[in-house]
Amino acid sequence: MKVTVVGAGNVGATCADVIAQKELVNELVLLDIKENFAEGKALDIWQTAPVNLYDTRITGSTNDYSKTANSDVVVITSGLPRKPGMSRDDLISTNAGIVKTVTENILKYSPKCIIIIVSNPLDVMTYCAYLTAKIDSKRVFGMAGILDTARYRAFLADELNCSPKDIQAVLMGGHGDTMVPLPRYTTVAGIPVTELISKERLDEIIDRTKKGGGEIVNLLGTSAWYAPGAAAAQMVEAIIRDQKRIFPVCAWLQGEYGLKDIYLGVPVKLGKKGIEQIIELKLNEEEKKSLYDSAKSVKEVMSVLDNMNNSTVAK
Ligand code: LAC
Repeated sequence: MKVTVVGAGNVGATCADVIAQKELVNELVLLDIKENFAEGKALDIWQTAPVNLYDTRITGSTNDYSKTANSDVVVITSGLPRKPGMSRDDLISTNAGIVKTVTENILKYSPKCIIIIVSNPLDVMTYCAYLTAKIDSKRVFGMAGILDTARYRAFLADELNCSPKDIQAVLMGGHGDTMVPLPRYTTVAGIPVTELISKERLDEIIDRTKKGGGEIVNLLGTSAWYAPGAAAAQMVEAIIRDQKRIFPVCAWLQGEYGLKDIYLGVPVKLGKKGIEQIIELKLNEEEKKSLYDSAKSVKEVMSVLDNMNNSTVAK
């Protein structure tokens, strides 16, 4: 099996490192537009193989897409990260052009691959890749829900002083401040979290989760990479190993949850065909309202892309 990670920046390199350490594939390509950058990162990662004991061959390439040929899964992390004071949506015009070009090049050499988008603004960059790729939406989707849920679970583990392994949670909506964590579907070793944490405290944790990416941007001056990289690698694992795992993923909705023609985070089953099922939870009125508010804000940014497409970016 072969995986390509496009973008050898912090997120892409971390994702490649996790894929290699887990020995998910025998061939892993890291590609970047910056001269020698992916080669250097790949060489450094490859030199951990004798220490960490894995066989995955990782190689780097400066923009030579022929090296990515016949990839089974491609993770696209290319694009600028945000700086303090920026929202993810501020990145749209620069990153849309990049995601479009990368998607075209990838499909030239790997027409059957599954594409996972990580670039921001996530939901809209996934839409951009889908418009460009013109392939089944089961094969084009975005990583955000695993990251956002991981943040939520990490905060809950801190609060309860328990293992994050025992915290199960689902979160829906766009990858932004309107995301929708669902306490009703959050459990700690099977115990509803609402029995363990007061509503006031849970609301604070949910609020911190929604702003979790911004918290890191403020601390570091750039956006996160360890958790985003690991989250994308977990999606690759579910596909490569045909695990049928259930994760929140940014998926193309065609009537599910009463929403149509939109990329939004929802729980799905991931396996070797990509998105094998979209799972429809029974939401109460309040949850539905939060989801629709989130959908509305994602649609607004999608229409910015549509307007750009009509003039410059795509078609
Ligand atoms: C974050 C960025 C990567 O949430 O979107 O950290």
